[in-house]
Amino acid sequence: MLILGLESSCDETAAAVLRDGHTLLSNVINSQVAVHSPYGGVVPELASRKHLENIYPVVAAALTQAGVTLDDLDGLAVTQGPGLVGSLLVGLSFAKAISAVKGLPYVGVDHIVGHLLSPFLEKEQPPFPYIALVASGGHSSIFLVHDHTTSQLLGRTRDDAAGEAFDKVGKMLGLEYPGGPVISRLAETGNPAAIPFPRAWLAPDSLDFSFSGLKTAVANYLHQRQEKNEPVNICDICASFQEAVVEVLCEKVLKAAQRHHIKTVALAGGVAANPRLRRTLQKLGAERGLRIFMPSLELCTDNAAMIALAGFYHFAAKATTSLETDAYSRSPVLHPGSVYKA
Ligand code: KG4
Ligand code: ZN
Repeated sequence: MLILGLESSCDETAAAVLRDGHTLLSNVINSQVAVHSPYGGVVPELASRKHLENIYPVVAAALTQAGVTLDDLDGLAVTQGPGLVGSLLVGLSFAKAISAVKGLPYVGVDHIVGHLLSPFLEKEQPPFPYIALVASGGHSSIFLVHDHTTSQLLGRTRDDAAGEAFDKVGKMLGLEYPGGPVISRLAETGNPAAIPFPRAWLAPDSLDFSFSGLKTAVANYLHQRQEKNEPVNICDICASFQEAVVEVLCEKVLKAAQRHHIKTVALAGGVAANPRLRRTLQKLGAERGLRIFMPSLELCTDNAAMIALAGFYHFAAKATTSLETDAYSRSPVLHPGSVYKA
């Protein structure tokens, strides 16, 4: 089964061709970082316009690289939400148009479900059920993943997402957008114990996150230093901030695994590209006898391969989407406690 996946929920226009749910024939990603960088964050209107310009060449490149044409496809999978509605509509309308012209089935995929399943794009695949942490620019959530189309939210952020905190702290430090990759690079030479930034554990049994207090603590630290005319060590700030995020993410996801008696943990989303997070979770997981799965770096950040993969399993479960279906900005996956079935 040959599926074309499309992703346009934020600032990446992406298309991928996936064969039989495991063989990735192409994975094309056009990043808009250069467009949004001068503004220190994604400008929704600019994002939609860029998606419009990019969608055709990106899809054409994905088909060419895969050595296939639209006539070879068996179906399309496209991100339906959550994200910027103007941006989502570009990918969704493009998929609907191909579906209508070529008479192909298409399925709208939840972006978070795409991230949740992204470890399956690798050779070694996690057994069900597993605990997954999706940490990205828009979400920081812990799920119990029952199977390819069923998952249950166990915890989520009450304010900023982990990636959002990285990006906001990066902005405060005058670093390039997005802050995550730059902070993690600078942190490599900093001391993670230099500044005791707070960890928001919330209630003892809580699997929720909160990163806004940490962000404020970094702002206060910078402000106090400035007032006293004292120099700051950017690498130490990056390492100490990163440590606070990594510690809380790891501790909560391990707590979720323990509580549900699950021996498999998967990491996904843009923040899963963070080397310190990857190393720490591997180490703590090994100490507790857990198997840890994480996608390669390019499959952590937004891509269409994970959307094609999720689409494959939706089709396998006989789920298709009608041409009347609209994009959505908020995810139905994110209902605490309830089980989400695609
Ligand atoms: O999954 P993603 O590409 O898009 C969303 O769905 O949001 O995640 C993007 C987020 C950004 O906030 C970015 O700063 C963060 O992932 N990120 C990182 C790293 N690489 C990307 N955060 C920390 N360390 C990294 N190495
Ligand atoms: Zn994402």
